[in-house]
Amino acid sequence: MPTWDPIVYERYKGYRDRPALDLMVQIPDQRFREIWDLGCGTGEHAALLSLRHETAAVHGVDSSPEMLAEARKRQARVAWSLGDVADFAPEVAPDLIFTNAALQWLPDHATLFPRLAGRLAPRGVFACQMPMAYETEHHRILRETAQSGPWAGLTGEARRINPTPPLADYYDWLAGVCGQVDVWTTSYLHALEDEDPIIDWMAGTALRPYLDALEGENDLKTAFLAELTARIAHAFPRRVDGVTLFPFPRLFMVAIR
Ligand SMILES: C[S@@+](CC[C@H](N)C(=O)[O-])C[C@H]1O[C@@H](n2cnc3c(N)ncnc32)[C@H](O)[C@@H]1O
Repeated sequence: MPTWDPIVYERYKGYRDRPALDLMVQIPDQRFREIWDLGCGTGEHAALLSLRHETAAVHGVDSSPEMLAEARKRQARVAWSLGDVADFAPEVAPDLIFTNAALQWLPDHATLFPRLAGRLAPRGVFACQMPMAYETEHHRILRETAQSGPWAGLTGEARRINPTPPLADYYDWLAGVCGQVDVWTTSYLHALEDEDPIIDWMAGTALRPYLDALEGENDLKTAFLAELTARIAHAFPRRVDGVTLFPFPRLFMVAIR
């Protein structure tokens, strides 16, 4: 399990929030009693859900103590807990499961998705967004760089994300337990500023498993980062207005039990 860097992760908060908010507006307008945010991270969205659904009990679970420590600093009406989504077994059936940019880290979606949605109360809603990161150019460069060079022995096997299964598979996995299923993708074109913004973006998430694999190997880590930075800069040149365009496709689904 990679460690997470909440400070770096928050740096691109505006861009990372956008899909979560795009997902939130697709949640049907109904009264929820039990809401869970799975892989809640620093807790922004669970806090928002608690404001939006004033009478609901809202829970946020995450496996990272660092992320949860940030979440706990919020003055939010949310019950935070440390735990693995793979073991999700709430005592009371949720009527909303919200999960943003988290389930891509868990294996075996064919089993996981129907199991999670199957926990919902009748008419409960499963709302999920995941980056389609494996398919992006910057992840291809990350994988290639990790597998070539003197660091490859350590980074080659770092835990990484998997290819996104076909969208129709998600439909089928959810349709087995839900009456209504909506699956779609949105591709964002982020206009990032500053020096090496894509490296900076990845530093909070995708790069973590690779940097963890190089823990204690400072020379290798520096060389790996320098090579990755050069390859990314070549593939994503800065434009005359100083902006780096960063395409990012994301997968969404809202299913009603
Ligand atoms: C990219 S962050 C997203 C955080 C938050 N949902 C958001 O949108 O800002 C992914 C989060 O998923 C959590 N996570 C990854 N695997 C997990 C698991 N198996 N169980 C619980 N949390 C997990 C990580 O600790 C991290 O906080």
